[in-house]
Amino acid sequence: MIYEKAQEAAEFIRGKFGDRIKIALVLGSGLGAFADEIESAVKIHYAEIPHFARSTVEGHAGQLVLGKIGGAAVAVQQGRFHYYEGYSLEEVTFPMRVFGLLGIKTVILTNAAGSLNADFYPGSLMLIKDHINLMGVNPLRGRNDERFGARFPDMSEVYSLDLQEKAIAEARAMDYVLRRGVYCALQGPCYETPAEIRMLREVGADAVGMSTVPESIVARHQNMQVLAISCISNLAAGMSEEKINHEEVMEAGAQVADVLNKLLKRIVSKLI
Ligand code: HPA
Repeated sequence: MIYEKAQEAAEFIRGKFGDRIKIALVLGSGLGAFADEIESAVKIHYAEIPHFARSTVEGHAGQLVLGKIGGAAVAVQQGRFHYYEGYSLEEVTFPMRVFGLLGIKTVILTNAAGSLNADFYPGSLMLIKDHINLMGVNPLRGRNDERFGARFPDMSEVYSLDLQEKAIAEARAMDYVLRRGVYCALQGPCYETPAEIRMLREVGADAVGMSTVPESIVARHQNMQVLAISCISNLAAGMSEEKINHEEVMEAGAQVADVLNKLLKRIVSKLI
């Protein structure tokens, strides 16, 4: 049972870090540098944590970093599990289950994404206001464990409006223009075709990626508040002459790391 496994993992983490963790963050492709901002960091490799899978994708460190940011105790996932790596969504979202059982009420998810909106150019940050799940799978499929949440959870406000307002206010205080849009998740691992991108634009997506949505769904299932930010790494397929490659995605992450890290720090400090 996932619940018991998640309890075991939560117990293990509690044994490594006494403070009550308030916020969990997930750092996406190329965005791992935020973990360096953590004070008195305790680093735990995923392989050490009971029932955690291992991250295989380049650019993901594959460790949980526990510590403090601006006085708040945080758990930071430096590297996440992706469906395209071959994990089940149960494995992909297992860390969220553990965060929920640790009593964490707020999760901040980050990712790299392609832009479908010509105004959201590479190197910009987009606050996710809603999502479209086109992965063809749902992490809540299967027998529902009521200890986690309801069988048919509401998804009308996956991304907390309150947290979005706080993020926008912090960005404004930094004189930074945070974009806001709809994120669409596909399975990957290949990037999209130009025809698929035209279709996604028709259905209302501003950005496209291969993660975040399963974690957001599971976080909401457990009634955690979610904030999610996409680092726009490239214009989606067919929108420019350029071909899309993983190196460029990683590079865009490094470019925005500074502003993203500052923004995340400010947001976290406002949440305690
Ligand atoms: N498509 C899907 N996922 C992505 C992209 C993209 O263009 N860029 C970064 N992650």
